[in-house]
Amino acid sequence: MQTAFLDSSNIDEAAEYLKSGEVVAFPTETVYGLGADATNEEAVRKIFEAKGRPSDNPLIIHVASIKQMERYVESVPDVARKVISHFWPGPCTLVLNKKGPIASSVTGGMETIGVRMPSHPVALALIDKVGVPLAAPSANSSGKPSPTTALHVKRDLEGKIKAILDGGATGVGLESTVLDLTDPQKPTILRPGGVTREELEAVLGHVWLDAHLSDDSAAPKSPGMKYKHYSPEKPVWVLPESLAEAKEILDQLEVEGENVGLLASEDWLKHLKTDWRKNCSLGDKNRPQQAAARLFSALRELDDEDISVILVEPYQKTGIGTAYMNRLEKAASRIL
Ligand code: TXA
Ligand code: MG
Repeated sequence: MQTAFLDSSNIDEAAEYLKSGEVVAFPTETVYGLGADATNEEAVRKIFEAKGRPSDNPLIIHVASIKQMERYVESVPDVARKVISHFWPGPCTLVLNKKGPIASSVTGGMETIGVRMPSHPVALALIDKVGVPLAAPSANSSGKPSPTTALHVKRDLEGKIKAILDGGATGVGLESTVLDLTDPQKPTILRPGGVTREELEAVLGHVWLDAHLSDDSAAPKSPGMKYKHYSPEKPVWVLPESLAEAKEILDQLEVEGENVGLLASEDWLKHLKTDWRKNCSLGDKNRPQQAAARLFSALRELDDEDISVILVEPYQKTGIGTAYMNRLEKAASRIL
């Protein structure tokens, strides 16, 4: 299949492809999504095919208005209204009981549905033009780091999808938070993401974490969380929190003849930078949102270098650092 490359002046053309049952990659504020008409079974099937995605992993539907969302969920409890009024449009997906004519493969046979209103103007305009919600997972090949530019999408999916709508680099850089509200008394984070637990708790009071997020042996409630994820071809190892220990490990690996790629904050790079090492910056250590925004793209960048292993600096598991560490630990084959 010939993949068309579109930009924000061609939103109409992208909308036409979607209306005719094709899949189109589009920008959101988190990562690029691979969209299809969520009410069209055949169109949604093409998403799973293009990505090589397991069919028991449900998709998020993307809406352009609250009114549109109300057509596809059984009810909107007060707790959901609160989240919506504070965080929509934005990187927070709500899991609610479903209703209405959504393709069954979107929800993988579940009674619930994940829904979010993205804040990216191109995404909103596109959904609005198509007139139905867009089912969309991240627009990467299954298992690879999520795409934060149109070029990443091209690398993974050219020839497999109808079009790529380029809206520049995404802002947040990690996917949305998935918040289960099917028990309104017990709002539960199934996947940490762009809206932090701290931000949610400031509005809702206590917010629970799905058991698998703190206990490796627990089964995740969000089916997607059980799969291997976000991994470049090269092995990814997470460095220890101590800079001194990290330095020792890097030096030792190089004595052993490894060609190391290093992904670290400016603060660490000041101490660890060497001429022979391939370095990539995560930005200011005190601004973990910069690390979140750069992680996926930096993993892809280092993957293209002539190195044998990618070593990455860990961040504190608070605020957006929680989502950063969740993605990094999933991408990693070793935690040092
Ligand atoms: O930021 C994002 O969320 C991006 C952009 C494109 O919107 N999308 C994204 O989709 O990350 P995907 O398919 O890569 O991840 C969706 C996650 C998966 O972990 C899936 O298991 C979970 O949401 N999910 C979807 N529907 C669910 C449901 N009904 N119940 C529980 N988890 C659900
Ligand atoms: Mg994904």
